Amino acid sequence: MLTVYYNLLTIRTIPRIKAAEPKLGVECAAAMSSVEEYYESLLARHYTWMRGDFDSRVRENRALFEESGVSPRKSGKALDLGCGSGFQSVALAQMGFEVVGVDSSAALLRELRSRAKNLPIHPVSGDMREARLYAEHGPFEVAVCMGDTITHLRSREEVAAVIRAVYESLEKGGHFFLQFRDLTHELEGVDRAIPVRSDDDRIMATFLEYEAEHVNVHDMIFVREPSGWAMHKSAYKKVRLGAKDTLGLMEKAGFGILDHSEREGFSTIIGVKTGSRE
Ligand SMILES: C[S@@+](CC[C@H](N)C(=O)[O-])C[C@H]1O[C@@H](n2cnc3c(N)ncnc32)[C@H](O)[C@@H]1O
Repeated sequence: MLTVYYNLLTIRTIPRIKAAEPKLGVECAAAMSSVEEYYESLLARHYTWMRGDFDSRVRENRALFEESGVSPRKSGKALDLGCGSGFQSVALAQMGFEVVGVDSSAALLRELRSRAKNLPIHPVSGDMREARLYAEHGPFEVAVCMGDTITHLRSREEVAAVIRAVYESLEKGGHFFLQFRDLTHELEGVDRAIPVRSDDDRIMATFLEYEAEHVNVHDMIFVREPSGWAMHKSAYKKVRLGAKDTLGLMEKAGFGILDHSEREGFSTIIGVKTGSRE
């Protein structure tokens, strides 16, 4: 990983910076990182903060699962793909599921372990494209891949393969919650620069660069340090998924669609394994 430090620039345009003419230290990863490098070099240590309050996110997810009629009735096993720090894993475990939380970020799995306390959550370090994960830990009564994890895959073909693997790993009647940002709508010009979150000590913004099949996501995080503001930055690719297309992939894999909703920029699809393909 290439890491460069320098202290030449001055922040003038970022809102909520109180110090006058602070020094700006810049730490940047190589031009475009793999997803794993990107989380380890930048986002993992800011991820939970970026998404707001942990307990509120857990409550929201729990409400979604409960309103969808999900509860442990058969094996009681749940799979959380790209579990991160545990917004869905903790909600499912609180509902009585035994949760297998899979993630490729060592830092986020450590955070999940510390948040899991005595809940039945098994953090697994792995890649959701690995077939052995599903065979080793399944079958599952419920599977989730939420918070835009699925767009971290490299192509629509990989997305289709993961959806098929989830279908195969579910018990008959099992549910799959797939949530992602629909990236088919293209922002233009300066609208591609998006404020993400800020408080007195941290400011995060993103710049999106569109390609035919992907979006290059350039993240910048400014952190207040004793010597001034330090800028950390990194970039990675997301695959451009559309809700209509993804519903098609779910149906093709064999899922019946229970619900599809759009909220706060996220598309959430709930599929059920009806068993009609068996
Ligand atoms: C946007 S976060 C979502 C985390 C959480 N589900 C949420 O709702 O906030 C994406 C997560 O997926 C993980 N991830 C990305 N690609 C992965 C892969 N191929 N296999 C396993 N985990 C992956 C990242 O490390 C990160 O924790």
